[in-house]
Amino acid sequence: MSQFYPLSVADLRQETRDCVSITFAVPPELEGAFRYQQGQHLTLRTTIDGEEVRRSYSICAAVQEQRLRVAVKRVAGGLFSGWANESLRVGDVVEVMPPMGHFHVPLDPANRKHYLAFAAGSGITPILSIIKTTLLAEPHSRFTLVYGNRASSSVIFKEEIADLKDQYLERLNLAFVMSREQQDIELFNGRITHDKAAQILRHWVKPEDVDVAFICGPEDMMLGVSAALQEAGVPKANIKIELFAAAAPKQAHKARSQDARAHHQTEVTVIMDGHHSHFVMDQDKESVLDAGIKAGIDMRYSCKGGVCSTCRCKVVEGQVDMDVNYALEDYEIARGFVLSCQSFPTTGKLILDFDSAE
Ligand SMILES: Cc1cc2nc3c(=O)[nH]c(=O)nc-3n(C[C@H](O)[C@H](O)[C@H](O)COP(=O)(O)OP(=O)(O)OC[C@H]3O[C@@H](n4cnc5c(N)ncnc54)[C@H](O)[C@@H]3O)c2cc1C
Ligand code: FES
Repeated sequence: MSQFYPLSVADLRQETRDCVSITFAVPPELEGAFRYQQGQHLTLRTTIDGEEVRRSYSICAAVQEQRLRVAVKRVAGGLFSGWANESLRVGDVVEVMPPMGHFHVPLDPANRKHYLAFAAGSGITPILSIIKTTLLAEPHSRFTLVYGNRASSSVIFKEEIADLKDQYLERLNLAFVMSREQQDIELFNGRITHDKAAQILRHWVKPEDVDVAFICGPEDMMLGVSAALQEAGVPKANIKIELFAAAAPKQAHKARSQDARAHHQTEVTVIMDGHHSHFVMDQDKESVLDAGIKAGIDMRYSCKGGVCSTCRCKVVEGQVDMDVNYALEDYEIARGFVLSCQSFPTTGKLILDFDSAE
């Protein structure tokens, strides 16, 4: 089930003029459900002006803290982020889905690795969780953070990052890249683009020393940095990406020609929390997620745009066509994972398993 739990807001902090951090109180009986990994996100649900709104927000605390804290940056005209920044109060109750996401790598105290992260704006939230967790869990590993903002006044978690630097002088390297505030070192002026990342990899970070790179921010930055890393020799498999977008622009699904289809309808079985639910849907009309919701199944979703991976599941039998995918990595697709919000069945029978993690 798309299980949401009502959690009350224990703490609210204005991090910058446009960003509020929210800490939720987790009652002891839900601690297991809300145990998270570094870099994971929560789906929050509320009703604004009579409309149900679901959005994803990354946890910014270390795994060792187990503190359910997110930071919401206001986007111009944004429904949820505007509401969270203006109307949310301590003690209010928000519906929260347990942590999800795969924006992390396994840690081992014996590792002696160098991790590199590029974050832009609110993209710092999962990165902060990853940095804190990693430096605590791997005493011999190092982290380099390249963090892009307009100016120092818009840097989310500025003091927390400065404190981390004091704590890990030798193991944490920081570069603040500012687009509207002139800094002494020219390399760090401007926006984090493909060119900027390439220059940083030429003059400041040795790409051959990088074991894993994390990127979090808007799509253009993410694609540019990923390309620069690969051109500098960092293998794609060692680059972990989290896209912070509301949703990709919705494209109409391109129907397959009738001749190409052996079946016009699909019998779908959904396995969730050990329960099997069945429904029949027309092919090419709507995604399997929308068809499941229409059939009365409490399907898991947030963005419905192929970005957040909340609707991720595994195809156990049958086949689907996926429209867009900004969330799954190549290895997940190879193992049969799909985004149900983007999936259109192409076989007469389809079994989807939402319980399968691997
Ligand atoms: C996995 C994941 C994790 C995320 N984690 C965080 C987080 O930790 N902190 C955070 O602040 N946000 C995060 N986001 C983005 C967040 O889910 C919302 O998309 C964002 O807060 C905007 O929602 P809204 O309801 O305010 O705007 P909407 O009402 O949905 O959108 C209003 C307008 O703003 C544009 N827009 C939406 N999002 C953005 C954006 N990020 N940048 C620029 N323009 C935008 C839309 O295209 C639209 O035109 C995350 C997204 C994903 C998929
Ligand atoms: S609901 Fe976000 S990827 Fe499908």
